[in-house]
Amino acid sequence: MNEDTNKAPLTEPERQMYFIEGCRKILEEQGVLGEGKTPVYHISTFGCQMNFRDSEKLAGVLESIGYRPVDSEKADLVLYNTCTVRENASTRVYGRIGYVGKIKKENNPSMIIGICGCMMQEPDEVEKMKKSYSFIDIIFGTHNSYKIAELLYTLLMNRKAKEKKPSLKTRVIDVQKEATGIVEDLPVKYDSSFRAGVNIMYGCDNFCTYCIVPYVRGRERSRRSCDIIREVEELAKKGVKEIMLLGQNVNSYGKGLDEKISFAELLDKLATIKGLQRLRFMTSHPKDLSDDLIKVMAKHKTICRHIHLPLQSGSSRLLKRMNRHYTKEDFLSIVKKLRDAMPDITITTDIIVGFPGETEEDFSETLDVCETVSFDSAFTFIYSKRTGTPAATFDDQVPENVVKERFDRLLNVVARCSATNASRLVGTEKEVLVETEGRDPGTDEQKQEIELTGRLGNNLLVHFEGSKDLIGEIVKVKIEECKDFYYIGKLI
Ligand code: 5AD
Ligand code: SF4
Repeated sequence: MNEDTNKAPLTEPERQMYFIEGCRKILEEQGVLGEGKTPVYHISTFGCQMNFRDSEKLAGVLESIGYRPVDSEKADLVLYNTCTVRENASTRVYGRIGYVGKIKKENNPSMIIGICGCMMQEPDEVEKMKKSYSFIDIIFGTHNSYKIAELLYTLLMNRKAKEKKPSLKTRVIDVQKEATGIVEDLPVKYDSSFRAGVNIMYGCDNFCTYCIVPYVRGRERSRRSCDIIREVEELAKKGVKEIMLLGQNVNSYGKGLDEKISFAELLDKLATIKGLQRLRFMTSHPKDLSDDLIKVMAKHKTICRHIHLPLQSGSSRLLKRMNRHYTKEDFLSIVKKLRDAMPDITITTDIIVGFPGETEEDFSETLDVCETVSFDSAFTFIYSKRTGTPAATFDDQVPENVVKERFDRLLNVVARCSATNASRLVGTEKEVLVETEGRDPGTDEQKQEIELTGRLGNNLLVHFEGSKDLIGEIVKVKIEECKDFYYIGKLI
């Protein structure tokens, strides 16, 4: 540790603010920042909304140092924020790392490459990075990503020291096994000026037997309600129209806080914040979805009529093996309560096919729930074995060909149900938050005729003609045509 590091405050966020300044000074000394010069960064994010939110925080710190964002990996600093929930997420990360290593070698040897996120909370993955990818400069995990400025500062100082002593190793590796508290008030770079995600809690205590998340994201920690309310108020004041409250299991919000507050109570307070027009949340675990939450949702027009409620399986036997703490009947009863209170609510879900021991009978229970509930959309996943989780040791893994065949059958049912549900809105007038120019998905030819894409309260997209100035505004659109999972409409 050098003298300047010793002078750093010990409390957060002051400590990181100190290192932001420190990084800035070093980059200025090096001549890469200041006098018309701006270093550029690129962050590639894999995985869920939590990771995207973490990346906004990483970007906020980098931009405070003086970095500017670019779309490609041809940058001075590249960060990979990784996901490990399923194997294909990890495979994709390795592909990108190989690619960026080549860019560094061929174009820019002083480029800084960092890797962080869920994969780095797995000791085997860190070992692999250390051994096989010598060009990676910074490795950190999910629990200390707020320390990016400090880690970058350490790397820059190490590089400086290496100029005098070439044998020095510069790489910085800092992975914290457990989370320590929540650091508030560091700079954040919001991706959008009208939609924002707000963390209400971190981690997960549920230990579903297939899932790696509790091991890489740590124990559940809720933010204090006053901090959340303040953040939402500030965003609403800045003109943000839609806020998504984020947590691995928002329904257990409040556990472990000194104040006594439930998720329903928090939502009730947030829903009336001045200027805020739409409030969403994800993800809800069915076992903790309270009647109070349904009441609060039904009470406020600002709360979107949409709930993401992961089913995972329709078989009570498998749900037990998954450690989900609800049965098929419990799930169906929650859906009924939600629909009784809000007949127009959109219900989306996650389903895993091929969990160890899944029989044809279990799978037909899943299809049965899909038909009965008629989900508006479903994220369907093939079970992926994650080392360290209980299910990885179950010896009745389902053969690949059986899983694929079931997966296709499930997709058919899900697609049919969502198309039937979506078609019901044709002819109605809906409020739409205009998000982007152009159609998504679509071709260039279609882009010319249809200019805007907006999101309905139920989370589905609609394409319609209109002026660019409407981006970020809530407008009324007549839904004219349903294209299974999106709409074509007309601005009113
Ligand atoms: N295999 C397949 N899908 C998984 N999910 C979590 N872990 C696994 C796994 N090992 C899915 C669940 C969860 C979603 C975010 O990812 O459906 O709800
Ligand atoms: Fe994983 Fe289950 Fe926690 Fe969701 S609730 S993050 S599926 S352990």
